[in-house]
Amino acid sequence: MPYGCRRGICFGCLTPLTYGRVRDLRTGEIHDRAGQMIQTCLSAAAGPLALDA
Ligand code: FES
Repeated sequence: MPYGCRRGICFGCLTPLTYGRVRDLRTGEIHDRAGQMIQTCLSAAAGPLALDA
């Protein structure tokens, strides 16, 4: 990513999910849809995954 606030404000860290599962650290929600934009500064891996960086 070109830059980032690391606070969930700028959305500069949005990266598409290629495959796998990601947990939103604020809500605990799991995201697993390929192509979904992931806010990487506020997310953690929930298993093996790939992002289209
Ligand atoms: S780095 Fe700013 S929202 Fe993620």
